Amino acid sequence: MKISKRIYTLDEMAMFAESIAQTLFPGFVLCLSGDLGAGKTTLTQFLGKAMGIKDTITSPTFTILKSYKNALVLHHIDAYRLEGTYEDFELEEAIYSDGVSVIEWYENIIGSIPDAYLSIDIDFVDDMTRELKIEGRGKYETIVKAISD
Ligand SMILES: Nc1ncnc2c1ncn2[C@@H]1O[C@H](COP(=O)(O)OP(=O)(O)OP(=O)(O)O)[C@@H](O)[C@H]1O
Ligand SMILES: [Mg+2]
Repeated sequence: MKISKRIYTLDEMAMFAESIAQTLFPGFVLCLSGDLGAGKTTLTQFLGKAMGIKDTITSPTFTILKSYKNALVLHHIDAYRLEGTYEDFELEEAIYSDGVSVIEWYENIIGSIPDAYLSIDIDFVDDMTRELKIEGRGKYETIVKAISD
């Protein structure tokens, strides 16, 4: 199932993140794609807030992985610098854990991504407007409609 959704403001992006937060479960995998500056980290920050994480979530472009302790741990991964085939035990340990994993530039580590996941492709339309393509694979199929309304 694949649905498009247009977001016009940062507030709307925050509300969208809140709707994702309602659907989270241990082991949840959220894959984000979209150009530089599309809003992947921003969406992750809103999601962390909606999960109740008080720490400031910063872009893990250079650290690759940052984990935030919480009722549900949030693993925030940025695979931007990992182009090519890449297998990393530490990343896979996070992705296949009972935490929530959000992976920016997941295409770069597709070999380490499970078969079932929720993906959101963020397209820059203008300054504040973003077009989201939301797709659920496997057990994530049913989530797509719930978070798109
Ligand atoms: N509706 C919106 N949703 C998300 N971000 C928005 C929106 N409107 C404006 N922005 C701004 O766009 C920028 C998105 O930057 P962000 O770091 O989240 O992108 P990114 O996709 O993570 O980029 P990178 O690939 O470099 O990691 C932020 O400055 C954010 O405030
Ligand atoms: Mg980012």
